[in-house]
Formats: sequence, structure tokens, C-alpha cells
Amino acid sequence: MTDTDTTTDTDTTTDTDTTTDRDTTRPVAFPQDRTCPYHPPAGYDPLRAARPLARITLFDGRPAWLVTGHTAARRLLADQRLSTDRTRDGFPATSARLAAVRDRRTALLGVDDPEHRTQRRMVLPEFTLKRAAALRPRIRRIVDERLDAMIEQGPPADLVTAFALPVPSMVICALLGVPYADHDFFEEQSRRLLRGPSAADIQDARSRLEEYLGDLIDRKRKAPGEGLLDDLVRHRLSEGAIDREQLVAMAVILLVAGHETTANMISLGTFALLDDPRRLAELREDPALLPGAVEELMRVLSIADGLLRLATEDIDVDGQTIRAGDGVVFSTSVINRDETVYPDPDALDWHRPARHHVAFGFGIHQCLGQNLARAELEIALGTLFERLPTLRLAAPAGEIPFKPGDTIQGMLELPVAW
Ligand code: HEM
Repeated sequence: MTDTDTTTDTDTTTDTDTTTDRDTTRPVAFPQDRTCPYHPPAGYDPLRAARPLARITLFDGRPAWLVTGHTAARRLLADQRLSTDRTRDGFPATSARLAAVRDRRTALLGVDDPEHRTQRRMVLPEFTLKRAAALRPRIRRIVDERLDAMIEQGPPADLVTAFALPVPSMVICALLGVPYADHDFFEEQSRRLLRGPSAADIQDARSRLEEYLGDLIDRKRKAPGEGLLDDLVRHRLSEGAIDREQLVAMAVILLVAGHETTANMISLGTFALLDDPRRLAELREDPALLPGAVEELMRVLSIADGLLRLATEDIDVDGQTIRAGDGVVFSTSVINRDETVYPDPDALDWHRPARHHVAFGFGIHQCLGQNLARAELEIALGTLFERLPTLRLAAPAGEIPFKPGDTIQGMLELPVAW
């Protein structure tokens, strides 16, 4: 695997207050870059030994809590004393870039109850298991079309641009009523929003997305068509249940979260499978294993690593106290490798019950799109390996670039041949 420049704890840590006798470890820098794209960085090993809570140091030298134990994580993610409102004073950030866009509240993920409940109820019917099941034939068509195009072009191909990104992008466009013809624009802005080089770049990407989706919503006001945004314009905006600014914020998170995350799971999932031929062969022999395999890949890859919260009251966790005002970070990759819940946690095992992983979060903010994402992953990965039985990496695994630790994890490119 590539040797990325993993930041070690020695250069950025400070001797922060160690609050109890049990908490004797030095804080570890968080986040760090992965060395293998589907395993937590080796620098997190001390965190895996310190469950359920550890101390970390963020990019700005600020100390925070890292939740590392599975039981504590599910309890705390459901605890309303932890806020997700990024505009609150002292809300933790995992990079300077992200700290710069905390000036405005995002919809859904950035609001607490009761406002959050109101927003979520508006969109929930579109993301049920039943709706995801109804979308399957459409997803299948999109997957087949993208594979037809990739096969016609012939090997080699970059699986990210030819398949992993367009599939979820087309699906979320159809669901929301966003024209896929604009995909170059919104994919680029989403990329900048999630990992632009500077705060100014991220702010600019956010403004452009807001302007684009605001214009689209205005057009839909005059002539609503088919899609979730059209429905929201027709039934919620016109009735005053939501204002234009809130609807734009909602559209931004749905569009960005709706394609970037799943695209990363497809690319990284494919990489992990091609890197483990024994597990892949097992899956090919018995496609009934696929739904379980998707859960297991979600658990092991934990692509959204570092969920952020701020404590609004003191909270006791197994004898340690998170104080009001403390930043709390959830490392999904470490939590999902809690060996008391998942024996031999680093191994991919299609037969284990992985369903209780926290790769989609937990509690009121648990991923709205998880049913959709599962359907997309099953169809995309299942069809890819079925139609291309000789699929292989077209470059040495260790030379293929992947994303840095302070953003959603995934492959930057994935050269394949068949
Ligand atoms: C495999 C792909 C995906 C992964 C790994 C993923 C991961 C997550 C995680 C971990 C959270 C919780 C964040 C937190 O608690 O801080 C979340 C929330 C969310 N996700 Fe996903 N997601 C995926 C796909 C999707 C899709 C397809 C959509 C479609 C729109 C979506 C929309 C959202 C939204 C709107 C939220 C915020 C929910 C709320 O606050 O109520 N995600 N996702």
C-alpha cells in the first residue's frame, strides 16, 4: 500500500488534561491519513486499545474526546446532549478548511431536534426501504448502461470516472429532479466542498452550489416537474412549511451526500475486493452473500470516519466525564473494529452479522440515504463482478492514489482492466 504521510502523534500532541486514572494515554492526532485505503491508519492503534473513550488532538491543537467503543458509540450517538449544530461556539473541526464553513447551519445534519425532526419528516418518505426497492429497476438500468459504455470503450478504464461516480450521481439526480446534464458542474463543486484546497475555495464551492440549486428551485416554482425537490416546492415551499433558503440548504446536502459517499464506497469496495481474491471468489460463487457483504464492506471500509458533535451538558461515560463544551468525535473505523463485537475485526467475513456497524451513523442523524445506498451498492458491485469476471487492477495496488484522512475515504482513481 502507498506510504502516505501519516501525521504521528509526537509532532502535534500536547499534554492535555488526562481526567481520570484510567485515561493515562497521550492524546493521538486525529484525523490521520490511512496507509492502506481500507484500514484505519496504524497511528490509530493506541486508540483501538483505549475503549470506549480516548483523548485526541485536532488539527488546531485543540483536545477532544474520541469515541472508540461500540456500545458507548451507539449510546452517545443517540444522546441529545450532544449537538450537531456546527455554528455553536467550540464545535470541533477536523481541518482548517472545514472550520471555515461552520458559519452557517447545514440542513438535517447540522440541526438539532426539534427542528431536525421537522426537516427529516419532510423528506423521509422518499428514502424508505420501500422506495429504495421501487428504485431498483432504475438503478439496474443505470448500472448496465454505464457498464455498456465502459466495455465499449474497452480496457483499461478509470473505474471512478467511468462507473463509481456516474452511477450514484445519475440515481440521485433522478430522485431529486436535478438535470444530470449539469453533473460536471455539481460533481466538481461537491469535490471542492468536501476537500477543496482552502477555506476560500470551499466557501466558493458552497456559494456556487447554492446559487445553482436556488435557480433550479425558482424554475421549479414556475413549472414543477418530477422529483423530490419538485414535490417539496409544490407542497412545502408554497405552503410556507419551509423557506427558500432552507430548501436550498436541504437540496445541497441531499445532492452532495447522495452521490459522493456512495461513489467512494463503490470505488473503495471494488479495490478492497480486487485486493482480496479469496473473498471475491467466495462472493462470486454465492451471490446470495451479497447483501451481507455490503454490510461487511461498510463496516470495514468505514468511509465516513470522524463524526462530529459538541457536548452541551456533562455526560458520564463509564467513569469518565465529557464536560459541557467538549468536542466529541466518533471514529467509525475504530468503533467498527471493536473486537468485543466483531472478532478478528480487520478481516472481511461475509458470514458475520455486521449489521450493527455505525458506518451510517446511529440515532436521529443516522444516514437518511442508507436504504438507497445499500440498493446501489448491491446492484453496482454485483453487476460489475458478474459482467466482468476477469476484472483486475491495472496498476500495482500500492501505487493507486486514495483520499486523505480529513475527508470521506475513497479512491482518487481506480485503473482497471478485464
Ligand atoms: C454508502 C454511502 C453512504 C455513507 C457511508 C453515508 C454515511 C453517513 C453517515 C455516517 C451519516 C451520519 C453523520 C453523523 O451522524 O454525523 C450520514 C447522514 C446523512 N446521509 Fe448518508 N451516507 C451514504 C449515502 C447517502 C445517500 C445515498 C444519501 C442520499 C441523499 C445520504 C444522505 C444523508 C443525509 C441527508 C444525512 C443527514 C441525516 C440527518 O441528519 O438526519 N447519504 N450519512
